[in-house]
Amino acid sequence: MNVLEKRIKFNDGNFIPQVGIGTYKLDSENGIDESILAALKAGYRHIDTAQYYGNHKQIAKAIKESKVKREDLFVTSKIWNNDHAYEKAVKAIDRILEELELDYIDLILIHWPTPERLECWKALEEAVEAGKVKSIGISNFLEGHIDELMKFAKIKPVINQFELHPALPCNRLVNHCLKNGIIVESWGTLIRGKCFEIEQLVELAKKYNKNPAQICLRWAYQLGYVVIPKSSKPQRVIDNINFGDFELTQEDMDYIATIKEHRDGPDPNKFEI
Ligand SMILES: NC(=O)c1ccc[n+]([C@@H]2O[C@H](COP(=O)([O-])OP(=O)(O)OC[C@H]3O[C@@H](n4cnc5c(N)ncnc54)[C@H](OP(=O)(O)O)[C@@H]3O)[C@@H](O)[C@H]2O)c1
Repeated sequence: MNVLEKRIKFNDGNFIPQVGIGTYKLDSENGIDESILAALKAGYRHIDTAQYYGNHKQIAKAIKESKVKREDLFVTSKIWNNDHAYEKAVKAIDRILEELELDYIDLILIHWPTPERLECWKALEEAVEAGKVKSIGISNFLEGHIDELMKFAKIKPVINQFELHPALPCNRLVNHCLKNGIIVESWGTLIRGKCFEIEQLVELAKKYNKNPAQICLRWAYQLGYVVIPKSSKPQRVIDNINFGDFELTQEDMDYIATIKEHRDGPDPNKFEI
């Protein structure tokens, strides 16, 4: 099965390809052209970026070079934390459109739940009404942030993107998203490369003749999460979609649940903005 063909429906009626390419830390010196072009050539149609990554312009260039049609692509960006005040958020949205050289963005997220998050949401809702953005969502939001936003929002968030992988399964947060009709998106699915050092993942990789990254991706995919693995290396970009031909059993899932908890990025509870 080609995992790139699977799309998930949002609560606003739009669809997102379940597998995309991440772009954090990709720039001209770190393989951005090679990575994005290899991804688009291999059939990826979903690109995850952010203002913070500083690579919108290179992504725009790679999209053009690939000749993939706009309507076949799904592009996500995120508004960075110092642009969440209303006026700044309005400008940030226009800047994202300009830098990516697109007439609309498929999905824009609030990158982290800063104190100005509701002002930013208002700007995003207006951008949907103006046709600049198709869908809007959140990133690194915890249960309390979600409850607050659900009360405030005219347009409900379609997705929450947060650190989520076999060493950080976030069961309560996942259930809270699902209860509110919010699709779950995993960042750091490969535990940022550390999956190769985890015994349970190495063992399962041997069992299925895969590598630990593919086990992590299969785990998240089977649970219905959107995944956006990142690699600066074209061969790995291709390897990272090769997990459609096997299925983890319940026993495998239970074994994965024995992995010692590890958070690799900032904790949204403690994040200093
Ligand atoms: N919303 C947020 O706050 C947030 C935070 C972090 C990330 N993200 C998004 O999520 C995406 C994914 O997260 P991430 O980039 O932090 O981590 P990740 O995808 O879990 O892991 C990326 C790391 O794994 C390595 N890697 C990738 N494929 C591999 C393979 N097949 N074999 C061996 N190593 C491999 C990469 O190295 P090489 O490049 O050397 O291959 C890189 O060091 C990001 O790129 C970004 O788009 C969002």
